[in-house]
Amino acid sequence: MSEERWSPDRWQGIATPFLAVDLPTLRRNLARAQALCDDRGLRLRPHVKTHKIPEIARLQVAAGARGLTLATVGEAECFAKAGFDDLFVAYPVLATDDLADRLRRLLDAATVILGVDSRDGIDALVRHGLADHPRLSVLVEVECGLRRTGVVPEEAGLLAAHATERGLRVGGVFTFPGQGYALGAGAPAAADEASALSRAADAFAAEGLPCEIRSGGATPSYEATDVEVVTETRPGVYAFQDAQQVALGTAGPDEVALAVITTVVSAPAPDRLVLDAGSKTLAADRPPYVNGHGVLLGVPGARIDRIWEHHGVVDVSGADPADVPAVGDRVAVLPNHVCTAINLADRVHVRDDGEVATWTVAARGQNG
Ligand SMILES: Cc1ncc(COP(=O)(O)O)c(C=O)c1O
Repeated sequence: MSEERWSPDRWQGIATPFLAVDLPTLRRNLARAQALCDDRGLRLRPHVKTHKIPEIARLQVAAGARGLTLATVGEAECFAKAGFDDLFVAYPVLATDDLADRLRRLLDAATVILGVDSRDGIDALVRHGLADHPRLSVLVEVECGLRRTGVVPEEAGLLAAHATERGLRVGGVFTFPGQGYALGAGAPAAADEASALSRAADAFAAEGLPCEIRSGGATPSYEATDVEVVTETRPGVYAFQDAQQVALGTAGPDEVALAVITTVVSAPAPDRLVLDAGSKTLAADRPPYVNGHGVLLGVPGARIDRIWEHHGVVDVSGADPADVPAVGDRVAVLPNHVCTAINLADRVHVRDDGEVATWTVAARGQNG
């Protein structure tokens, strides 16, 4: 694994634990994904809940991304304030008085697409007077195997007809193939996605409605997107990659653009050392296919097997003693899931050719 990027000498003067971003790697990831989508005629609308950082969204748009995907209206407000004007909140938004006021203000600054997956959601938008806003449209969410939000594809047409009759503009459908988060499941998830979006488009046609936008995407599956069906993809993690994607085989270790820099604060027994990064830095995501709470670089055989809020306990019994760091040493850990790790940080430190800048995680906490 190329660890030069994360060597302590390159990140001096910043108190640990902190999130370090290698900008050349990040740029390469963005360029690669964009080229892949451009070659295939697929629109890339990155999900920016991964990073919540306008500077990174600017790089994505400069690389060729068209529009941003967000998880919440609060995130959309943050990115609109930063100047982005084509926003898709890929979530079943249920309008309330407060949310409707905020949406109206948001619509002064941006074109907004909202997810809907129920008559209740559609009716709430209409009730709050948002139906005929010229900059608002909706996409009907269908499910393609994850069994989270989204109606079954065959019901998408009736929902679209209901929204259309009530004055809402319906741009098409979207789905999230999150079942691709399992070993060997990326390509099958892309096939599920295409099948669901195609069936949903047929259901629109049965109601006499066009279904121009057919949006899918997640990092483990977007490279296998069926572009005969899918018009737009929304990966988020692809920008940084993480230990989870490495375990899934979606990314190589050299493609991971973010690491947690942490200090060994204790080595109370020969088989154990303790890092100052715990669940409040690394996050607690630990899917079954990863080995521990992140990958400790430079110590083959070591495993971060227990975490508390501010402690990461590493079992080094399987490591060569020559590789085991000492108290006071700084080491780098690839977090399992970059989205949840960034969500815990106020800022990231970004290194490009010797210069280190600090970028604020501006949309942090905008969960509603
Ligand atoms: C609706 C939706 N679209 C896109 C994404 C991005 O997928 P990934 O996190 O695999 O990059 C997510 C992630 O949770 C999502 O929920």
